[in-house]
Amino acid sequence: MKIVQHPNPLLRKVCAEVEDIKEGRKIVSALRESLSKSEKEGIGLSAPQIGINKRVYIARKIIYQGEKEDHLDIAFINPTIIKGSKDKGKSLEGCLSIKDTYGYVLRHNKIVVEYTDINGDRKILRTGGYLAYVIQHEQDHLDGILFIDKLIDKKTYTEKQIDRKIQLENN
Ligand code: CO
Repeated sequence: MKIVQHPNPLLRKVCAEVEDIKEGRKIVSALRESLSKSEKEGIGLSAPQIGINKRVYIARKIIYQGEKEDHLDIAFINPTIIKGSKDKGKSLEGCLSIKDTYGYVLRHNKIVVEYTDINGDRKILRTGGYLAYVIQHEQDHLDGILFIDKLIDKKTYTEKQIDRKIQLENN
């Protein structure tokens, strides 16, 4: 499936809850396929980005095993962020629906998210760091919100500019 591109109005709709788990599973497999086939590497994808206005997304957890790096795409069906830490951090974000645009957004450093997994069980995940940022970015998609709506200083950067900025900061 092609990934819907900004400013398509499909990205601005508030998504509906998933009513049955079969439907949820179908959406999850479509998301997994789209993310794995995406030419641009992504670490999360939400249903509205593949044209389905339902409350589902996947977020990629990177797993380091010694030298090897593996990943797990965690599926969230009807998720709610029930808690966000007071402390927030600057998250550098991009989006598969917004070409060559990056920027900094303030996000909770730690969150608690409640969701239904692909078995239909209600789960609670407590997480922090980049995965918490990815989940907050994807959660926003379900309400028609894009990271460019929340930019610190309203500044965006191209990939080239951001690479250069990071290089300069590290020197
Ligand atoms: Co996005």
